[in-house]
Amino acid sequence: MRPLAELATEVLTTADGREKTALSRRHAAAWFEARDLGEMPVVGTARPPLRPARPARPELLDPRDVPRRKPGSETGRIALLHAVAHIELNAVDLHWDIIARFGHVPMPPGFYDDWVKAADEESKHFNLVSDCLEELGSHYGALPAHAGMWRAAEDTAGDLMGRLAVVPMVLEARGLDVTPGMIEIFKTAKVDHAVAALNTIYAEEVGHVAYGSKWFHFLCGRENKDPKEVFHDLVRHYFHGALKPPFNEEKRAEAGLPPDFYWPLAEEPPIRKG
Ligand SMILES: [Fe+2]
Ligand SMILES: [Fe+2]
Repeated sequence: MRPLAELATEVLTTADGREKTALSRRHAAAWFEARDLGEMPVVGTARPPLRPARPARPELLDPRDVPRRKPGSETGRIALLHAVAHIELNAVDLHWDIIARFGHVPMPPGFYDDWVKAADEESKHFNLVSDCLEELGSHYGALPAHAGMWRAAEDTAGDLMGRLAVVPMVLEARGLDVTPGMIEIFKTAKVDHAVAALNTIYAEEVGHVAYGSKWFHFLCGRENKDPKEVFHDLVRHYFHGALKPPFNEEKRAEAGLPPDFYWPLAEEPPIRKG
């Protein structure tokens, strides 16, 4: 197979969502086929675009200009799923980008296994949520979406530890906090296919946060640095604003994120019981 960083760049430069995820899944399958045979394909280096290719639709708006809709209506639920599809498509690119952009940093094979698996799962998530939208008579691209979803990637384009701190350990961990509430919305509305899709996403996202925490700790250990302090410094440097409680402490713990990592960065102090 061609070097992994090259395959990653090919995904990043594919604009259409369904095409991007199909290519992403094909490349992931080729990678794991080789790995299952005991091979370690070349990772290599690449020159990924600063921003991934995006389809002509959805229109990308400043978050303040994206209309807010109440999830109690079908229109609101479609808007919510549309926002999730947009997040998943960005996540596909984020995982391939970490492979393409940091090929010059020597990492063990498991690092690539983890992010190829995560990218493959995000591709599946995008397809699942796009299927849900289509069953509801809509599609990805039908509504405006947030611009600025790529900002964290651009800000950390030169800093692998910063990338791990902000993307999997802050942004994807936030997904663990908010997904149970979304599942409830679709359960109440009896939209079973969306409940199933969100349950799959919820289960697999724990792994993505865990990969982030694992490789962040690995790099801190290699450089003899205190992970908690480095994490606080990097999030304060690259992430704009405080973290928002309530946190899903149980799933965060499962993913290797202890409370003393995120509570000091929260906008309000923890509520102590007893
Ligand atoms: Fe996802
Ligand atoms: Fe993810």
